[in-house]
Amino acid sequence: RLGLKTKFMGKNIHYEESVDSTQKIAHRFAYEDVPEGTAIIAEEQISGRGRMDRKWHSPKFSGVWMSLILRPNIPLTKAPQLTLLTAVAVVQAIEEMTDLVPEIKWPNDILINGKKVTGILTELQAEADRIHSIIVGIGINVNQKPVDFPLELQEIASSLLIEKGAPVSRADLIRSIFTHFEKLYLLYLDEGFFPIKLLWESYAVSIGNHLKARTITHTIEGKALGITDEGVLKLEDENGVIHQIYSADIEL
Ligand code: BTN
Repeated sequence: RLGLKTKFMGKNIHYEESVDSTQKIAHRFAYEDVPEGTAIIAEEQISGRGRMDRKWHSPKFSGVWMSLILRPNIPLTKAPQLTLLTAVAVVQAIEEMTDLVPEIKWPNDILINGKKVTGILTELQAEADRIHSIIVGIGINVNQKPVDFPLELQEIASSLLIEKGAPVSRADLIRSIFTHFEKLYLLYLDEGFFPIKLLWESYAVSIGNHLKARTITHTIEGKALGITDEGVLKLEDENGVIHQIYSADIEL
C-alpha cells in the first residue's frame, strides 16, 4: 500500500471484488488468527449487514465496505468503546479528505448535514469472558449519486459525493482511516477510554439534546447527558430518572 505509514493497521489487506459481507469473511479470518489490524475490503456486498439485523446497501465501486480485525486486551464489557473510537477515526478521516463537518449520532452513525453517511457494526468473538477478536465493520457512502440510493433511503442517507459536490478517492479515505484509527487505538491502549471519550463528545450531535431512544422492548424519551466510561448512553427522563442505554435507535 503506497505511502501507508501505520505499524499494523491495514498492513494486511484482503481485497475482494464481490462478497456477501466483509463481516462474514472477517469472522472466518479472525478464527484463523490473522494479524491484528487485518482489513477485509470489498468493492461490493451482496448482503451487507447493518445493526439490528438490517440490510446495508453496498453497491459496487461507490463506497468503503470494510471490516477490521482487532485483538485488544480488554474485558468484554469495554468492547463498545471500540465502536466509539472507530467513529472518531472515520470522522477525522472525512475531515482530512473534505471540508465537510461530520457529526456522530450515538452510538455509531456519522451524519453530514443531518443525513447518514456512515454506519459502524461491531461484532465480537469471545472465549468465556475474554475477547478473542473484535470485528469492526465500517460502511461509508462515498461516491453514490442520489439515484443510487433506494427510494426509502433518499431522505435519510447521503454520500460524501452528494454533500461535497465532488468525488472522493476511496483509497485515500481508507488510508486516512487506518492512520487515524491506529493513532487513536494506541492512545486508547495506553491511556484508556478517557481521551477518546472527550474527542467523541466533541463530535457528538446527540449530547445535551432531547431525544428518543427506541430499544428492542421500549422507547425512552429524555435529555442525553453524555456517555459513561463504558460508552453507554445516559438519558434523563422527565422525572429526572437516569437511564443507561446499551443499544437503541436514536431519533433526534
Ligand atoms: C449500521 O449503521 O447499521 C451499520 C452498518 C455497517 C455496514 C458495514 S459495511 C462493511 C461491513 N460489512 C457488513 O456487512 N456490514 C459492515
